[in-house]
Formats: sequence, structure tokens, C-alpha cells
Amino acid sequence: MRRIGLATILLVSLPVIGGAQSRPGPAALEPHLEIIARTPDEANRIARATAVDPALNRFEHLPAGAASHDDSGKTAFTHALPTLNDAQILDFLSGRGIFRKIWVGAPSSTKASDGLGPLYNARSCLACHPGNGRGHIPEDGEKGGGHRGAALMLKLSGAPAYGAQLQTNSLSGLPAEARLDVTYRQETVTLRGGETVVLHRPRYRVSALGYGPWPEGALYSPRLAPPLPGLGLIEAIPAADILAAEDPDDTDGDGISGRARRVMSHEYGVEMLGRFGRKAAMATVRAQTADAFFHDIGISSPLLPDAWGDCRAAQTPCRDRPHGDGDVRGFEIDAKGLDLVTLYTSSLALPTRPDAAAPEVLRGKTVFHETGCAACHRPAYVTHRLKDDAARSFQLIWPYSDFLLHDMGEGLADHRPEDGAGGREWKTPPLWGLGATRAVAGQERYLHDGRARSLLEAILWHGGEAKPARDRVVELPPDERAALIRFLQSL
Ligand code: HEC
Ligand code: HEC
Repeated sequence: MRRIGLATILLVSLPVIGGAQSRPGPAALEPHLEIIARTPDEANRIARATAVDPALNRFEHLPAGAASHDDSGKTAFTHALPTLNDAQILDFLSGRGIFRKIWVGAPSSTKASDGLGPLYNARSCLACHPGNGRGHIPEDGEKGGGHRGAALMLKLSGAPAYGAQLQTNSLSGLPAEARLDVTYRQETVTLRGGETVVLHRPRYRVSALGYGPWPEGALYSPRLAPPLPGLGLIEAIPAADILAAEDPDDTDGDGISGRARRVMSHEYGVEMLGRFGRKAAMATVRAQTADAFFHDIGISSPLLPDAWGDCRAAQTPCRDRPHGDGDVRGFEIDAKGLDLVTLYTSSLALPTRPDAAAPEVLRGKTVFHETGCAACHRPAYVTHRLKDDAARSFQLIWPYSDFLLHDMGEGLADHRPEDGAGGREWKTPPLWGLGATRAVAGQERYLHDGRARSLLEAILWHGGEAKPARDRVVELPPDERAALIRFLQSL
């Protein structure tokens, strides 16, 4: 990781950054924003406000700046950014309606809601992002068993008859692709002071295959739905500020590299910075939303127009099913509907941190910095000043992520490389809102596949570039470790 100084912030606004001559400059990577350039004086103030600093910052109790609110209970992630204007609030409410809508198979009498599938994982966005939080994993013995239709899914490659994602549900009369089951092997870690922690290593099994044998060499990557608050603010972080922390060859020798993912955007037809998804595959919330409609629910949109979703050519009974497009909507969800859901998912606020200044929390914050967590979980940014987008403009925010890909070691590897992201790499997830996890989801499940049942388990899975930080946590005196967890819970 490179330290971000004022010099870097000023330099990166030049079109060419050292070592990346053939690549577009940061400004070219964000065609989705109408940016008002920062003045040198602003850049200076921003560098001071966002400097990595274990001391209490007087604004850090507001994770989303002025776009924070003070409900930390079950509904913590359901509030609109308080900075939305009246027209946006109306659109937010319409978008919420579509986010919660339960889609049905075509043809149906409720035209605006048909087009589900034919293959799908779930029938609504809400099913996988309950309370706009992370996905729910059924507990032992909980109704539903296995993982049919749950928020845990497999991305695929090398399985041409199954497509890009394993759909575990289908319209009646059509076989689902498979049933997905996960079992866990227990492993015990002993910490300094004698405390033991049991980790759950997942194992996946697909059965009841609907479209032929599982191909030799097919690769899969398990993904649990992440929480959704604050995404519009993440979208408005200057690309330059994210790129400034890249250090792919670890030139500063601190053991932390970090790579930004550049992805080809179907939306803008240019290369952009990947910010969303567990491996940063998506550049904008709109692209991610269209992808979710298409792969998760089987709904076509102007961005992904095929009405049959992820049914492949080999899956003829699936492609031949009736679809919900071709009526007045054109697509199963039209541009207006897609924009409304995008506004909704972009505009969810974060709860404030009332105990940010509590002594135990501040102690934990010091431990967080001393053990090296902030090298990847970078605390603060100021969003771009944006034309006609006051709601997300120029906010000091505290997501605790560098939004870069890191090698997280064998234990977390999916061994399924994507174009621009390796099989051991994951994007640093934001840590804001962590404290509301249990209240919102009714359970705690962390990491890309939800294997960790507590924050401590999540830390103990860190490997690769994060192994030294993880080892330092194992070696901490128990009271300092407790303070670290307390700090994370305060976020
Ligand atoms: C079957 C479960 C499922 C459904 C249904 C679903 N999602 Fe997701 N969602 C996920 C998973 C899993 C990811 C992580 C994807 C990845 O890593 O590429 C995700 C990621 C996202 C993200 C990116 C979050 C981030 O922090 O990067 C957004 C935005 C999102 N979903 C919105 C939606 C919307 C809008 C809908 C409805 C159209 C929806 N999702 C439906 C499972 C689901
Ligand atoms: C090398 C970069 C790096 C360092 C250093 C690092 N992390 Fe992480 N952290 C990540 C990545 C990447 C993930 C996602 C891994 C996954 O999903 O498999 C993650 C995930 C997490 C999660 C789970 C979040 C969620 O929503 O599921 C927590 C909690 C966390 N880190 C805390 C810490 C703490 C505390 C430290 C310091 C002891 C730390 N991390 C150090 C990169 C890092």
C-alpha cells in the first residue's frame, strides 16, 4: 500500500500515472459522474481530513457524512440518504417497490411483474438482501434446508451448459440447474491467552443436475449477498483516490500490494474502475443492478436484453419458454424501472456511531491501526463534488475499504480467476455498518461466502497479504483483542 499524501492527490489528476502509461487516467474511468474539479485548496483540506489517523476525528461518528441517520436497529439499512431532494424521495419509494416486488413467470395477468426466469435464484432483490443487509444463510435445522434459493450462490466458468451462474430454481415444468448444499468442517485456532475459536471451512456439493453431467474442470466461486447501504457514495469516490493506494508490485515492500480492477463497461463502452461485487466486477450500481436482474432473477433490461436470462443455447426447453418482454415495457424491466431500482440501491443511508468516542472503542481503534488493518480497510474519503447530484456530493465518508483486490491466501481462495481478478483475490469490503449486522440480518455471517460466524472468525480467515495482520491479532493480549472487536462493532 502506498501512503496517500497531498502530492499524490495532486499528481494523479494528470492524465498519465507512473508505470501505467498505456492506461486511461483516473478521470477517464468515471464517465458515470459529472464532476466539478477540486481546487488545490480543497485537495489540501481533504488530504488532512482523510489522513489515516488513530486519534478521534470529530466527524467519524457520521460514517456517511451528512447522509447518516440515527437508527441502528432492524431497520438500520432501510433509510434514504437524508440529503435526497423531494423528487428523489418519490423515486426512492418507487424503486423500493420494485426492489421488493416478487416476480412471476410469463405470461401472467400482472404484466408489469412477469418475466421471472425461466431459471432463477430468487424471485425478488429483497429475498437475497433482507432489510438491504447481507444474505441470510439458513441455520442448522432451519426450514428450507440446503441452500435452494438462498442468498448464497455460485458463479461458474467452464460449464457451458450451465452458464455464468448456478440457478437453483426454475419455473414449473422446467428442471432447475441443480441443488446446492454446503457442509462445514470445523477447525480450531488457539489464541494467546488460551481462548479457542472454531472456524467453519465450507465444502460445496451440487446434486440433482438438470442439464447434464458436471463438466470436468468446471470452476465455481461462492458468493453471499453483501449489505447495500452507502453504495451511491462509494460510486462517487474519486477514482484517483482509489488508484493512489494501488501498489501492485509492492514497491514499498510493506507486504500489501492491492490492485484496482479495471472492467469493460457495457453501459459506457469504455474501461472503468470496478467498485462493486466481491471481486469488483462491476463499475456502477446500475450495471450491478442489471446484472442482478438478469442472472439472479432472470429479468431482461436495456443493459442485458436477453429475455431468457442465463439459459444457454444447450438449454433449449429453457430458452423456448414464454417471456415477459415484447409488451409495452420492451424489456422485462425498462430503462425507467432500472433507474428507479438503481436510485434506491444507491441511496441507502448508514447509521451514525453514537459510541465512536467511547474509551474502549478508541482503544480498539488504536489496535486496528497498530495491527495493520487500515492498510486495506482505509478509513476515509471525500466524495466528488457533483453537478446536479447534491445528495452524494462532497461528503466526508468512512467506509473502511481501499476498494482494491488483495491476495487473501489459500484459505479464502475460490481458484476461479476472472478477467482482471485472480483466484485468491477479493476486494476489501467496506466495514461501515458492521455493528448493525445482527440487528438487520438476525444472524452474523461474514466474508464472501458467509463462512465466518463472528467478527473474530472473519479476522482469523485473513491470509495472504493480510496474514501478518491476522497473526498480530492472534498474539494480542485478550483485552486488546476485545477492544478491537468492540471498535468493529461500533462501525
Ligand atoms: C440470489 C441472490 C441475489 C438476488 C436475488 C439479488 N442479489 Fe444483489 N447480490 C448478490 C450477491 C451474491 C452479490 C455479490 C455479487 C458478486 O460478488 O459479484 C450481490 C451484490 C449486489 C450489489 C453490489 C454490492 C456491493 O457492495 O458491491 C448490488 C448493488 C446488488 N447486489 C443489488 C441487487 C439488486 C438491485 C437486486 C434485484 C434486482 C439484487 N441485488 C438481487 C445476491 C443477490
Ligand atoms: C491485505 C488487505 C487486508 C488487511 C490487512 C485486512 N483486511 Fe480485512 N478484509 C480484506 C478482504 C479482501 C476481505 C474480504 C475477504 C473475503 O470476503 O473472503 C476482508 C474482510 C474483512 C472482514 C469481513 C467483512 C464482511 O463484511 O464480511 C472484517 C470484519 C475484516 N476484514 C476486518 C479486518 C481487521 C480487523 C483487520 C486487521 C486485523 C483486517 N481486516 C486486515 C482485506 C484486508
